[in-house]
Amino acid sequence: MSYLSGWTRHASTIVLGSVLAGCGRPWQYEDGYPLSTTHASTDMNESILQVYGTFTYITVVVFFIVSALLAYTLWRFRDDGSPGNPEQIHGNTQLEVGWTLIPVVIVITLLVPTIRTIFQLADAAPEGALEIRVTGKRWWWVFDYIESGVTTANEMHVPVDRPISLLLESDTVIHSFWVPRLGGKRDLVPGRINRMWFTIDSNRDPVAPGQPHRYLGECAEYCGESHALMRFDVVSHTPQEFEQWVAAMQNPPAPPADPLVRRGEQAFTEGGCVGCHVIRGNDAAQGKQGPDLTNFGDRIRLAAGTVPNTAENLHAWLADPDSVKPGTTMQANASREIDGMNIPVELTEEQINALVAYLSSLKSGVPQPTN
Ligand code: CUA
Repeated sequence: MSYLSGWTRHASTIVLGSVLAGCGRPWQYEDGYPLSTTHASTDMNESILQVYGTFTYITVVVFFIVSALLAYTLWRFRDDGSPGNPEQIHGNTQLEVGWTLIPVVIVITLLVPTIRTIFQLADAAPEGALEIRVTGKRWWWVFDYIESGVTTANEMHVPVDRPISLLLESDTVIHSFWVPRLGGKRDLVPGRINRMWFTIDSNRDPVAPGQPHRYLGECAEYCGESHALMRFDVVSHTPQEFEQWVAAMQNPPAPPADPLVRRGEQAFTEGGCVGCHVIRGNDAAQGKQGPDLTNFGDRIRLAAGTVPNTAENLHAWLADPDSVKPGTTMQANASREIDGMNIPVELTEEQINALVAYLSSLKSGVPQPTN
């Protein structure tokens, strides 16, 4: 870049940076707006967007009026070469009252919808809302369905057209729940429960109205080494499909009677995985520390949105979790309690392959939207 110098280099850096910043787009979303806050899919987002729109229009109008007045003043009172000082002015009551009153009116106009929306969003969820307890972990998410007793991780399944009421908490540090297409952020704070609620309107989605969807979510509060790898999906279903999903989580289909899958199920116990993970239908898998892996084969991403859930990635994750997600508490070589002692268990290549087959085979049979 030596042939560019001074302000040219700075200007091209700014322009190139701005253009490239607009190119960012997660690979797994086909609709092009995974993190758009201006594509409202819920009542909550719609309310926020209305305030946002009011602010935008008023500030644009104010900007053009002020710019026009400034340009006129610069031209009208320019130095035209006439001798002596121009006419001197000391105070103008009408002007001063005007430029005090107009901003007051503008601020009040902005304040009314802002306060109305703040109160609306802080209201209790409507009757009949689906309650889900959301817990922020060390870079992954737990979703507990209070009514049905179902637990899942990193993919929150919800029905459309029914209010969803979230109780947000954290067991370690502060995280923040943010699904841009569904609404604003809410922090997860250790020792207290924050709430938020929204309804996904199946006909309001501007990308594919009436279609079940995946909505990309992120942790929006810096929480340590793998904060950027603390993603999740909100997966919307029709009410009937959602009931099927709940039923399949309560009573998951048995894994296929394939020899490799059977060996994987065995390795899940022998390798110590059962100490940290629940898989409904597998009586040995009762550990609560790690993500619930019931119907794990349905998930499209792995390790809280770190990589796509493919056999290859799953193999890499099981062989060396830290290389996929730095600082994860997932153990490559889990330990197993034998006679009161923790004995490390090293997974063999053969066991890892069998585990991949077993975990990938755990599917609910309910159709899953891919984007
Ligand atoms: Cu959790 Cu950032």
